[in-house]
Amino acid sequence: MGDMGDIDANLELEGIDPSRVPVHVGCVMDGNGRWAKKRGLPRTAGHSAGEEALMDTINGAIEVGVKWLTVYAFSTENWKRPPDEVRFLMRFNEGLLLKHRDELNDKGVRIRFTGRRDWRVPRRLMKRMDDSCELTQDNRVMTLTVAFNYGGRAEIVDAVAAMIADGVPASRVSEKVIKSYMYYPDMPDPDLVIRTSGEYRISNFLLWELAYSELVFSDVLWPDFRRCHLFRAIREFQSRDRRYGGVEGL
Ligand code: IPE
Ligand code: IPE
Ligand code: MG
Repeated sequence: MGDMGDIDANLELEGIDPSRVPVHVGCVMDGNGRWAKKRGLPRTAGHSAGEEALMDTINGAIEVGVKWLTVYAFSTENWKRPPDEVRFLMRFNEGLLLKHRDELNDKGVRIRFTGRRDWRVPRRLMKRMDDSCELTQDNRVMTLTVAFNYGGRAEIVDAVAAMIADGVPASRVSEKVIKSYMYYPDMPDPDLVIRTSGEYRISNFLLWELAYSELVFSDVLWPDFRRCHLFRAIREFQSRDRRYGGVEGL
């Protein structure tokens, strides 16, 4: 019973109401390049340092009882970066999967990927993604969705194209039908979206889904992000009054 690690964890969880933990947390993992630059390192060193941040955030999310965690790993706009950095990110993500998927599987994490499957994503990485999804598909402790080659506008474009291809008549178009054409119709909308590195924008993350998400912006650069920052964001979330366009307290 209770070693020091548990005691620390309990202290960190203090002030969080376990009955109002956000079901779905989204995370825009930003600031890797700046973290590296501050240390005189290449940008890619910042991406590498993001690994520990990601694993600690995942473990913290499981600990606090988040059921869905979606992390933005590569956007449809990130192809604009120098080819070396893009290549690094592809290899890095493949390596991350190989290194952590068994441990995530043991913890009951279901891994999924959201985004466009296009020819620019190396086939080996695509295969690792598919394998990880298959391996973990029956897990239900938490669903970790990695947004990779993901763009919120691209998702809407793909949904509209699929609806037209299916011959959905204009009279049947509704929010419910559009949702059913999104990449993962079973995914609940995020309750809380966190963006690190002091940038106050969405950068094409989950545009349709975050209509009523609470947004928390943190100045911490992603490689320095840890579960304590996640818990802080959840406390902030719990202090907000979500009205959904209605009136307070009803
Ligand atoms: C986020 O960090 C990681 C990705 C977008 C892949 P950045 O690489 O955007 O870091 P900054 O914003 O340049 O500091
Ligand atoms: C958003 O960060 C995308 C990811 C974190 C993967 P960016 O660094 O690409 O966003 P901008 O360019 O600052 O808007
Ligand atoms: Mg950035």
